[in-house]
Amino acid sequence: MKFVVLTDTHFVPRGSRLYGLDPAERLAIAVEKINATHRDISFVIVTGDLAHWGEAAAYASLAGVLAGLDAPTILMMGNHDKRDAFRMQFPGADRDAHGFVQGVHAFDAATIVTLDTLNEDMPDHAGLLCAARLDFLSRALNSAPDDRPLLLFQHHPPFDTGLRYMDTIKLANGDAEWEVIARTRKPDYLFMGHLHRPIAGTWRGIPFHIQRALTHQVAFDFETEGYIPGTHELPDYALVNVAHGNIVIHQCSFLYGGPVFSLHDPGNLESPKPDVTEDSKG
Ligand SMILES: [Fe+2]
Repeated sequence: MKFVVLTDTHFVPRGSRLYGLDPAERLAIAVEKINATHRDISFVIVTGDLAHWGEAAAYASLAGVLAGLDAPTILMMGNHDKRDAFRMQFPGADRDAHGFVQGVHAFDAATIVTLDTLNEDMPDHAGLLCAARLDFLSRALNSAPDDRPLLLFQHHPPFDTGLRYMDTIKLANGDAEWEVIARTRKPDYLFMGHLHRPIAGTWRGIPFHIQRALTHQVAFDFETEGYIPGTHELPDYALVNVAHGNIVIHQCSFLYGGPVFSLHDPGNLESPKPDVTEDSKG
């Protein structure tokens, strides 16, 4: 099974820009590339921060762009989202018994569990798994078939990464999440967004992948603590292949427009020249 991961689309109303970027324009390019390149994917998952301010017009713009995607979507909540406005545009999205945007998607190759870590009651952007959501996680982990990988998706990481401001707005109760996992089942992989940087590693033995954002990025900066340092590094989407007991994750720099050339042709040793974009001149 193959699928694509996108995150932190941070949509604004159609025609508006955010930090100098047009999220709709970027997502449309990604959609075109995904449609053309990945005909065999089962779904595209977007791991939260769908809209920057959470207003209806932003979700309407997002729905318009996603309508062009051939594959089905799984949409998740991040700290910038608003559930009610989201629901108006995406009434078919995951919804648990308490109204949270989370669910279990069963495939032959893997089980996909999504968590809603949005804490709409607190304006500080940290994440939360309340008792109802922890109970959902417990039941999801307990009931998933054990003959195939279980892939867990959530917006907020439950651990520090060293990005100082971002560490202050991680999942507020990661220990509670771990307690559920420890007494039920360890996911085979954990996918997240929120940090706007590509980061991988393990959390308590669980391999994790944090996807780079669709829009603005967070700087590779372990010193700044009073604000979030942003950049215009180019975005990626991830192509994930779950097959034969392996999970392979590729990153696609879908805005790259430079040459593709043979490394074996001696004529290419001096040219073509590297493509230096305005973004990379930074
Ligand atoms: Fe974000």
